[in-house]
Amino acid sequence: MGNQASSGVEGYIRLGQEYAARRKEQRQAMRQARFDTIAVHGMYSVEEAFRSGQGGIIEPIFPSTSQGYRDSDEMEAGLAYKIPTWCYSRIINPTNSYLEDTLSLLESYGCPFDASAFCTSSGMSAIKQAVEPLLVLPEDKDDELNFVSSAQVYGGTFQLFNVRMKERRALVRWVARPWETAEWEKQIDEHTRFLYTEMPSNPQQACSDLEALARLAHRFQIPLIVDSTIATPALMRPLLHGADVVVHSLTKTIGSGGAALGGAVIARHDLVSRHLAPEARADYATWLKLWPGRDSGPCISPNSAFFFLNEVRTLRMKVEKLSANTMVVAEFLANHAKVETVDYLGLGGHPLHALAARYMRLVDSDRPVFGHLMSFTIKGGPGDARRFFDALQRIYRATDLGRIKSVATIPAISTHSQQGEEGRRLAGIPPTMVRLCVGGEHPDDIIADLDQALNKA
Ligand SMILES: Cc1ncc(COP(=O)(O)O)c(C=O)c1O
Repeated sequence: MGNQASSGVEGYIRLGQEYAARRKEQRQAMRQARFDTIAVHGMYSVEEAFRSGQGGIIEPIFPSTSQGYRDSDEMEAGLAYKIPTWCYSRIINPTNSYLEDTLSLLESYGCPFDASAFCTSSGMSAIKQAVEPLLVLPEDKDDELNFVSSAQVYGGTFQLFNVRMKERRALVRWVARPWETAEWEKQIDEHTRFLYTEMPSNPQQACSDLEALARLAHRFQIPLIVDSTIATPALMRPLLHGADVVVHSLTKTIGSGGAALGGAVIARHDLVSRHLAPEARADYATWLKLWPGRDSGPCISPNSAFFFLNEVRTLRMKVEKLSANTMVVAEFLANHAKVETVDYLGLGGHPLHALAARYMRLVDSDRPVFGHLMSFTIKGGPGDARRFFDALQRIYRATDLGRIKSVATIPAISTHSQQGEEGRRLAGIPPTMVRLCVGGEHPDDIIADLDQALNKA
């Protein structure tokens, strides 16, 4: 809020309101900037650099666990959230707030409304925080409670929904073909709290018709939540297409350097939900941070937030290059004798290519671009897939994706092992499937590694 001291709680509130009004104006101005400019600067302006420190051109890390107050009046106003404050780093932290500002600006880029973000310790934490308040049991404990989700979601999400949410009597209803909007409609009833999809999904790259899905959700007065980790806001911004909440694993492409875990819940203001209280609907992400987040502690560390802030500055250019490399590799694999099928949304023959192209466009261009996740199946059985996998020399065998270094995994024995054969069948994960995330190396070198390993399968 600045360096001014004031007299009395009311005095601090007045100063706080003036500061909040200035920040709002600055945010409105920043909303007019282009995507790359927002990614580079966020809300950390020259003025902010001098206000918050010594004029450093990069956002400072605030490792402090808590904020000291000038006197009891400021402390009282701060802890009652009556002034802009950060109190204690489990609740808010200035470095984390810079990241939240940038991500919410990027995710709502081009939208006629604004959004807020809440950054968390991991992607799974973001998903759990986003869905939990929507699944509060009704007064009448016999009442049923459900939500409808694409079955083609990351394995951790599948477990969270299928096991952990079931433990609290919130039942997931799976949609096996999430691109068929009619399948979603069949699963919704008066007890449904939200719709959840992942686009493109990990690893199958399933897609949904976001606009149709958002319209469907809103007909039932419930929100649409989209995990947009794989696309990143450089390729797709679901809020623009009617979604209410976007969740991210920042750990992945947004943090492609691979040195930190993190997640984000980004929600549009005034979202649709007939189950949330009006104050939660008005600014869901901030509400999550200030209340349920304060009480459960899923916060991101300021060191991780600092890492992601620096990664996000080059997001658009990185995603463009990684996607171009992936296209070259996908075309090579599609023509290889040892490869049965290749799933990459960028290939014209992919059944969801046209749907993906409607939604995945490199921001500030009209060019369909499809990211750097792909999967393929090896001819033969699971043994052949393992022989290929074990022969890789440059590509890392790791249960990871989104890296600047190429990484591969066999989902059936790693990311999707916990959900069992039946769960994998539902999610379309055969044992011969290899997930590959192509990095920033020269694609010829990745192709050479794949070729020598395929020849050993
Ligand atoms: C699409 C997607 N969402 C969420 C997650 C979970 O993120 P985290 O590992 O940061 O908890 C992952 C992890 O692989 C993912 O791929």
